Amino acid sequence: MGKVIAVASGKGGTGKTMFVANLGATLATAGYKVAVIDMDTGLRNLDLYLGLENNVVYDVNDVMQGVCRIKQALIKDKSFPGLYLMAGAPKRPDGEITPLHMKVLCKKLAERFDYVIVDGPAGIDDGLAVASAGADLAVVVVSPDYASARDGEMVRMVLKEMGVPKIGFLINKLNMDMIRKGFAPEVSDLTRGFHRDLLGVVQMDENIQVSTNLGVPIVFMQDTYIADNFRNISSRIREAVGGE
Ligand SMILES: Nc1ncnc2c1ncn2[C@@H]1O[C@H](COP(=O)(O)OP(=O)(O)O)[C@@H](O)[C@H]1O
Ligand SMILES: [Mg+2]
Repeated sequence: MGKVIAVASGKGGTGKTMFVANLGATLATAGYKVAVIDMDTGLRNLDLYLGLENNVVYDVNDVMQGVCRIKQALIKDKSFPGLYLMAGAPKRPDGEITPLHMKVLCKKLAERFDYVIVDGPAGIDDGLAVASAGADLAVVVVSPDYASARDGEMVRMVLKEMGVPKIGFLINKLNMDMIRKGFAPEVSDLTRGFHRDLLGVVQMDENIQVSTNLGVPIVFMQDTYIADNFRNISSRIREAVGGE
């Protein structure tokens, strides 16, 4: 059985979708079979970040509502063999999608994939409950601000109440220049509440923004410090989740 990883945050824009695209691509490059699912209903972006927006025919709600089979909604990524996308729904479905629906979908996908990575919505409401329903591990993405760190701890509390067995943190958009100048908190201050659960730190780098705009995950260039960093993060995640 594969492992299910859900990605969450307090507010939008912390880098969840960027992280899902690059973690998925990194694990696929390492030889694993990976499915990434966009559960940010109404605000889907993952198809864009992977450059697959023109290949979307069916989305995750079509699967949940029985419009198509799972296989029909899985889009093969041409740049990363082993990586498959299930696109998010462009709008809220007519019928209700419950955490149970999601649990069943994750279970079925975990029979065929080594890793299933779920890109969740920002916030702590029903969307989070659905997105994290089948998760073995949730990764809370925070930006390097005290407000975002506090939001992240709140998200962790909610995820715990929802029964997610393991929760880790990722700091994204770290700006060393700001820290050196004393304009942003040191990592050790920021992570006071969750340093034991820190899975990684990704720097602020305009190349990452360029890559999401171009629709090619930045780790496609494998000999960069960012790809190195993602390889390290992905091995910590594999360890945390107890994958093969
Ligand atoms: N480490 C980073 N450095 C620079 N830009 C980043 C970084 N991470 C994400 N971004 C940019 O921030 C924006 C929001 O990222 P996104 O992944 O869409 O956030 P979320 O899914 O949490 O709303 C995007 O334009 C993305 O390119
Ligand atoms: Mg997003």
